[in-house]
Amino acid sequence: MPLEFLVRADLPVIQAPMAGSQDSALAIAVCDGGGLGSLACASLGIEAMRAQLEILTTRNDLAYNLNFFCHATPAPDAAREQAWRSLLRPYYDEFGLEAAALPASASRLPFDNTMCSLLEEYRPPVVSFHFGLPCPALLQRIRAWGGKVVSSATTVEEARWLEARGVDAVIAQGLEAGGHRGHFLSADLSLQSGTFPLLRRIVRAVEVPVIAAGGIADREGVAAALALGASAVQVGTSYLLCPEATTSAVHRSALQSGASLHTALTNLFSGRPARGIVNRLMRELGPVNAEAPDFPLAATALAPLRAHCEGRGNGDFSPLWAGQDTGGCRSIPAAEMTRRLAGTG
Ligand SMILES: Cc1cc2nc3c(=O)[nH]c(=O)nc-3n(C[C@H](O)[C@H](O)[C@H](O)COP(=O)(O)O)c2cc1C
Repeated sequence: MPLEFLVRADLPVIQAPMAGSQDSALAIAVCDGGGLGSLACASLGIEAMRAQLEILTTRNDLAYNLNFFCHATPAPDAAREQAWRSLLRPYYDEFGLEAAALPASASRLPFDNTMCSLLEEYRPPVVSFHFGLPCPALLQRIRAWGGKVVSSATTVEEARWLEARGVDAVIAQGLEAGGHRGHFLSADLSLQSGTFPLLRRIVRAVEVPVIAAGGIADREGVAAALALGASAVQVGTSYLLCPEATTSAVHRSALQSGASLHTALTNLFSGRPARGIVNRLMRELGPVNAEAPDFPLAATALAPLRAHCEGRGNGDFSPLWAGQDTGGCRSIPAAEMTRRLAGTG
């Protein structure tokens, strides 16, 4: 069994959790295809999480992964927020939007006691984390129901740190990966490397199974990662066009256009570096800009611009998360995508 260090699954393919682009339908379809489906919970409120867990557990044989963020909640910084809003002001003026009534709330919450209590009711077989791990007491509660724990590492040092805290597997997330960088020990991006060099170094450094993630888009990429010592792969971008994904229309259209050949790391949409298809906002303000408030606060002031433009079929102000290889994206069922990635379909 290729994924036996986590669950019973036929194929060594894990669908990457993708906040904002999926719900339980994608996870279930991937499990049905023989892989491990994941549900990103970072942007779900507690009631939405419960509703998704009800769906996932209707099938009592289903082995699935629930994914959470573990960032530190930033202290409010009024001056920085003001500077950010001033930078965005010309766009508000261009579209005739009013900035005054913006809420100050964060849209991404870290894993906490309330979420853990909900999980205790459903006992998910695998729980994965991005940006480190929660406190030992919460980890202990996951272990108490037999849950396996996985987290992303972007450096060898992070992989060793995770292993020392008892994770069941480490995800080696290379710089090619779509979405947020999972770093948590240092924000210095020059410490990070491409998937295959990172995978090789982490495989040599730790005893636990290593899952390769980032720019793995087709069966050849999966085979290469396995040949280089990965016990499994975690693939995100290639699933974004599957009918079970909730990828927005502007995101789908960008993925299918020539624009998808150009991705970059940007902090503009959330405050943390993440890889997405280059669009107008990234070209004009970044892709990296020191004025963007800390994660996840940068998203708030962008929300009206994003909604206005998406309503007109325009992704100029939307995070179009994608890895460096969008060549594997296909509008095919996720179960079929899983088998294709594994080379069995
Ligand atoms: C649209 C999108 C959303 C993502 N959201 C999450 C998330 O919520 N949690 C997480 O751990 N990783 C997230 N990631 C990163 C993935 O876990 C993984 O590292 C990445 O998809 C692998 O690279 P690839 O996209 O080139 O396959 C996301 C990636 C994408 C493309």
